[in-house]
Order: sequence, then C-alpha cells, then structure tokens
Amino acid sequence: MNTIFKTFSAIFLPVCILSLAACNHKAKNTSTASTMTDNSTPVTLPPSSGFEKTIDGKKAHFYVLKNKNGVQTALTNYGAHLISLAVPDKTGKLTDVVIGFADIDGYKKAMSAYYGATIGRYGNRIANGHFVLEGRRYDLFINNKPNTLHGGQKGFNDVIWDTQQVNDQTVTFTYLSKDMEEGYPGNLSCKVTYELTDDNAIKISYEATTDKTTVVNLTNHSYFNLNGAGNGSILNHVVQLKAAGFTPVDITLIPTGQIAPVAGTPFDFSKPATIGSRIEANDEQLKNGKGYDHNFVLDKHDITSPVATVTGDKSGIKLEIFTTEPGMQFYSGNFMPGSNTMPDGKTDDYRTGFAMETQHFPDSPNKPQFPSTVLKPGDVYKTVTIYKLSVGK
Ligand code: GLA
Repeated sequence: MNTIFKTFSAIFLPVCILSLAACNHKAKNTSTASTMTDNSTPVTLPPSSGFEKTIDGKKAHFYVLKNKNGVQTALTNYGAHLISLAVPDKTGKLTDVVIGFADIDGYKKAMSAYYGATIGRYGNRIANGHFVLEGRRYDLFINNKPNTLHGGQKGFNDVIWDTQQVNDQTVTFTYLSKDMEEGYPGNLSCKVTYELTDDNAIKISYEATTDKTTVVNLTNHSYFNLNGAGNGSILNHVVQLKAAGFTPVDITLIPTGQIAPVAGTPFDFSKPATIGSRIEANDEQLKNGKGYDHNFVLDKHDITSPVATVTGDKSGIKLEIFTTEPGMQFYSGNFMPGSNTMPDGKTDDYRTGFAMETQHFPDSPNKPQFPSTVLKPGDVYKTVTIYKLSVGK
C-alpha cells in the first residue's frame, strides 16, 4: 500500500474501503488517488497498482464497473474475484458490502477463505478426493482433509483469467482449464460475466463447454457484511430462505446423501430469523458445520423471484439472491481467521461475513441421487445468479 492510499484510508474511513480504480476500464496505473462524487457521498478512489501484476506469465488487472446510480463494483481477473461492491445504506451513505483486499498478495494470503472468488472446477467438497465417471476413477488433490474443496490445490480462484471488457457495466472473464488439470477430465472452456445493472444488482452468468465428459459446479464465494465489510458480526442480520430441505453433512462436511426437512430445526429460515438466533443451538448439524455451512435445497423457483433475502440490522441494506441453481451453501463465516487485513485496516474476524454460494449440491459426483453435475461434449453449462442490493422493505 502506498502512502497516498494510507493517508486517504485514514481520513475517509469507511468509504475508502471501496478500493476502486479511478478509471472505468482496465485500470491503467493510477498513481494519484482521485475523488468521485455520486449524488450523495464523495468516494475516494485509491490506486489500483495492487492488482497490476504478472502471475504465471499472465497479466492481472483491476476493473471497475459503475451504474447510473453511482454504485460501483471492483473486480480482478486474478481468480475472477469480486473485490468490492459499494451501495447506499438507509441514509444514502455508500457502504462496501463485500469483504475484499487491497492487492493480490492479500488474496493469496487469505486464499483458504476464498473471499470473493470464482470457484471451480467443482464448488464445495468431493468426498475423499475422488469420483468415478463413465467407469473411470479420477483422483483429485486433497486440500481439505480428507476431501477436495473448491477445485483443489490451485482452483479457478488462483489463476489468471483472460478478460473481455464488454462495457462500463459488464466484464467477461474466460479461462481454459486443461484436460486433467487438478485431476478433472476434459478441456473445460469457462466464461463468467459480471454485470452491474441499473437496479443495483450484480448479475453473474457462467458458461462452460468441454471436449470430454466431466463434472462442473461453478460459484462465487463473496462474503457479505450488509452493515459494511469489517463492521462487526453478521449474527444480527435477518435471513429468509426459501428452502424446505437441506443436505445434512458428516463431521468432514460431506453430505450424507439425505435431504432432510428444515421444519422444526435451526435450519428453518422460511420465516425471517437472525443468523444468530439459533446458531449455538444444541444441534448435531450445527456442530458438524461449526455453525451454518450447509447446502440448502431450494424450493422450486426460477430466476424471477428471490430464493433468499438478507438484511443488515444496522444499515438497512437488503440483499436478494436470485439463481437458476438448485442449491445454495449458506456459510456463516465459521472459519474466518481474523488475520487478514482489509484496505481500511479492519480484519476478517470470526463471523463478520456470510456467504451464499449458489450451486449444485456438494459431492454430487459421488451421490447419484443428487441433481447431476456431469457435462458432456456438445452440451453447454449455463447458470445465472443475481445478488441485488436495495434499502427499505
Ligand atoms: C465453503 C465451505 C466452508 C469453508 C469455506 C471457506 O463455504 O463449505 O466449509 O471451507 O468455503 O473457508
């Protein structure tokens, strides 16, 4: 972090956390911080140099999207991360609602938490790091003993994606995952598009094709704190989730294969409830997950109505999630270490962020009763998830 950034961070807390570059396309070297104003709140934008780096011979960059309301989001093609998303709270103050870091080193250091990352080739866990597909066994790297988690040793979160900037509100990242990369069969050609819409939503569209039968399960691993990243616990956030069932897990967080009803359990969010209201209940599943870290089986839905709504108790900021996926991992930040520092000096303390990872179910390659994650040559994997932010009812 350079001195200008530190100085501005000290003066303009908390808005400096935005970590946004001064330009709206691929950030050129912005060695001088500059100030932008939206209708209500001045926002100070730091240089983007922390993301302008060459890794594995490919160039990483920093991108900013901005909509007509002055809402901004920052992204990088390193791991196709969502870095920052600044939206107005109930008083109109721009508030960054996702946890992010000032540079790539920050992301590397915090890698095991997958902050804001695009996850692939397979989101969440595969039991004991192997599966059988068309009669052949595939062995993966075991990075979360005894299982494989979020793509393995070097997942899609840790590679440089190619970038195609579409316009000021859209950016597309592409990545070719080679045949047998991390043990998965088939050259998988992936595309993730982030669009910042004028109704203050981030629309994430995923696409993939393969030349050999494979499995694929892509998601985004943003941690939200709707009171502002680094602004305390998420336990008083109010959640409503349209899911009558969830997939219980064993002690290593692998689904047992059952779909259990949430009714009468701390997993019932059909009526609004705070995250913290039952998180310490004497419940075997909460113990296995060390809190909420479970796949919810979403009720029948389509992309036009939200599967979940979360509201920040202090900010009044409401997050609505829309998805084409059948499941969603609700993770209450139980492994957040507190040792990673955000641009404004705040740390990633225990349960100060939550993730809602839309997905197919964990360990589906070993669970034939779950919706299939198999992708065949000629077929196109396509999913869409929307995180929409607003205030009020
Ligand atoms: C996922 C997993 C969690 C944890 C986080 C990252 O949500 O389900 O158990 O590993 O990623 O820390």
